Amino acid sequence: MRGQKISVLLGCVLLCSASLLYLGLNGIDCPPTGPDHRHTWAEAHLGSNNQSQASPGYYGEETPLIFIGGFPRSGTTLMRAMLDAHNAVRCGEETRVIPRLLAMRATWSRSARERVRLDEAGVTDQVLDSAVRAFLLEVIIGHGEPAARLCNKDPFALKSLSYLSRIFPRAKFVLMLRDGRATVHSMISRKVTISGFDLTNYRDSLTKWSRAVEGMYSQCLGAPHGSCLPVRYEQLVLHPEKEMRKLLGFLGCNGTRLCCHHEELIGKAGGVSLSKVERSTDQVMNPVNTDALSKWVGNIPSDVLHEMDDVAPMLARLGYDPRANPPNYARPGPHPNPPTTTHCF
Ligand code: A3P
Repeated sequence: MRGQKISVLLGCVLLCSASLLYLGLNGIDCPPTGPDHRHTWAEAHLGSNNQSQASPGYYGEETPLIFIGGFPRSGTTLMRAMLDAHNAVRCGEETRVIPRLLAMRATWSRSARERVRLDEAGVTDQVLDSAVRAFLLEVIIGHGEPAARLCNKDPFALKSLSYLSRIFPRAKFVLMLRDGRATVHSMISRKVTISGFDLTNYRDSLTKWSRAVEGMYSQCLGAPHGSCLPVRYEQLVLHPEKEMRKLLGFLGCNGTRLCCHHEELIGKAGGVSLSKVERSTDQVMNPVNTDALSKWVGNIPSDVLHEMDDVAPMLARLGYDPRANPPNYARPGPHPNPPTTTHCF
C-alpha cells in the first residue's frame, strides 16, 4: 500500500516537471534572427503616440532627415562617411532602391490621363506621397543603426530634391559638386557604369554630366528656407575642418567627434559602416587626401577641351574655369555661407 502511494506521488512529480519544462520552453523568446540593431518605421511610428515630434523616436513627415547626393564620383561617399563619424548622425551605405522609387514616383503623375485614372481610383497625390514617405522611412531607419539624426546617401536621390522637401519639409540637403572633368574621368577610368552614359566618350559624358548637375543644382538653389547646401569636393578635401564646420553649423550639429578622421571610426559601433561592394569603399577607407584633384589632366581629348564652354556649361556656372587645365581649386566657389541652425534635432 505504502509502495503504491510512493509510485503515485512519483508519477505526479514527473508529470508536473514535464508540464513545467514544456511551458517554460514555450515561454522562452527565441533570439531575433535578423540583425538586432535594425528596427522599423512601423514600430517606431506606431509606438510614438506619447512622444514629441522632435524626439528621435518619432518618425514621420516632421523627421529632420539629411539627404546627401549629387552626381556619382563627386565625393558623396566621403561626405557621408565624414558625417557618419559624428556621434549623432547615421547615413550608412547606399540603399539603391530610394532613387529608383523616387524616379518611379515622378512618372506616376506625369501623364494627365494617368492622373485622372489614379484620381478616379482614389489614389490621390496625397495617398501616394504618404506611401512614398513610409517606404523611404522604413528603408532609411531599417538599413542601419538607430541614431538621433538619420541621413541618406544615394547620389541620384537629389534629382528629386524638390519632391523630397515637399514630403519631408524639415529635411536638409547636401549637394556634392565636383569639377565635371574630374568626375567624368573618375567614371571612365574606373569603369563605373551609370545608366545612359557611354564610358568611351568624354564629350557625351561631360554633356550629360552638365545636364544632370544643372537639374540638381537648380533644385538646391530653389530649396525652401535655404535647406540645401552645395559643397564642393575640392574645398572639402583641401579644407576639411572648415568645410565640416560650415556643414555642421548648417545642420545644427556642432561639437563633432573626430570630424576629419572618419577612417578611425570605420567598422566601429556608432561609427562608419562601409559596403564591401560599393565602388568608393577602397578610397574612402583612406584619410581625407587631395590625390584625386587633378588626375583628369592630360586624359581628355583636345577637341573636347577646346569646346569645354559649350560641352559642359555647368563648369563655369559652378565656378570652375573651363579653359584652365587644371583650374585653381583653392579658389572658393560662388556659394555664400549657409544659414546656421542651432538645433541638431
Ligand atoms: P576618384 O575616382 O577621382 O579618385 P563618390 O563616392 O561620390 O562616387 O566619389 C568618389 C570619389 O571620391 C573618388 O574620386 C574618390 O577618390 C573620392 N574620395 C573617396 N574617399 C576619399 C578620401 N578619403 N579623400 C579624398 N577623396 C576621396
